[in-house]
Parts: sequence; structure tokens; C-alpha cells
Amino acid sequence: MSEAATPTLYERLGKRPGIEAIAKDIFHNHSNNPIVKNRYVNSDPDTVIRLVTEMCCAGFGGPETYTGRDMITAHTGMNINEIEFVAVCDDVLAALDKNSVGQKEKDEILCILYSLKSQIVHL
Ligand code: HEM
Repeated sequence: MSEAATPTLYERLGKRPGIEAIAKDIFHNHSNNPIVKNRYVNSDPDTVIRLVTEMCCAGFGGPETYTGRDMITAHTGMNINEIEFVAVCDDVLAALDKNSVGQKEKDEILCILYSLKSQIVHL
């Protein structure tokens, strides 16, 4: 008998509704994080939340299409530093905790975030 395939990260996070709830909490955390909140003062929360939701859904195995910019284009000109990058990762992990996401899923997501570092920092 073959073993059941591991469900995708998209499924394990509760598909789009679960991921959207996490994206809302991430934006809320950024808006209250003294290290990064000034970066988002001119952002439209609904737009950022929608784009982060789409990107995560598409990247984690869902059927959604990501309609935003690629990471290099979106962050070029901001000269984001390492401290800000870690702060954003901490905000994501706090949002995952708030939504009772498991340790295995948190580990996978942190690896994905870190893999994007060179597309975000010092551009
Ligand atoms: C791996 C980490 C990160 C991911 C996955 C990520 C993801 C995204 C996404 C999907 C967007 C929307 C793209 C678009 O506008 O088309 C975005 C925009 C943005 N990101 Fe990031 N980001 C990351 C790290 C950071 C960091 C460290 C900062 C700085 C504190 C930052 C600041 C911003 C800002 C200011 C915007 C523009 C928001 C707007 O247009 O209103 N991001 N990011």
C-alpha cells in the first residue's frame, strides 16, 4: 500500500481563508513594529494583504495566480537592511503562532522566506 502524499503547505495552512488570515496578521504586526512600520505608512493595507495572500497561495501549492510584482522589482530602491529583514521574518512567525500553525510548517515557511533574502535586502 502506498503512503498518502503529504498535503501541500497551502492545504495545511487552511487554503486561501487560512492564508488570508495570516496575511492580515502579518500586516498588522508590521504596522505595529517600530523597526519597519514607517515602510508601510503609504501602503494600502487591502492591496498588500491581497498580494501577500496570492503569493503565498501560489507558492505553497494552491491554484491562485500571483498578480503582483516579482520580489526584486517590488523591493528595489528601498535599500532594506538585514535588521528589517529579520524583523519582517519575526512578524511572520508571530502571525503563524497566532494562527496556531505547527512547528513543521513554521520551519518550512522560514526557509522559504530566508531563500528570498537576496531578492529583498540592499536593493
Ligand atoms: C521574504 C520577505 C518578504 C516577502 C516575501 C515580501 C513580499 C512582498 C510582496 C508580495 C509585496 C507586494 C508586491 C507588489 O507590490 O507588487 C511586497 C511589497 C512591499 N514590501 Fe515586501 N516582502 C518581504 C520583505 C520585506 C521587507 C524586509 C521589507 C522592509 C521592511 C518590505 C517592505 C515592503 C514594502 C514597503 C512594500 C510595498 C508596499 C506597497 O506597495 O504599498 N518587504 N513585499
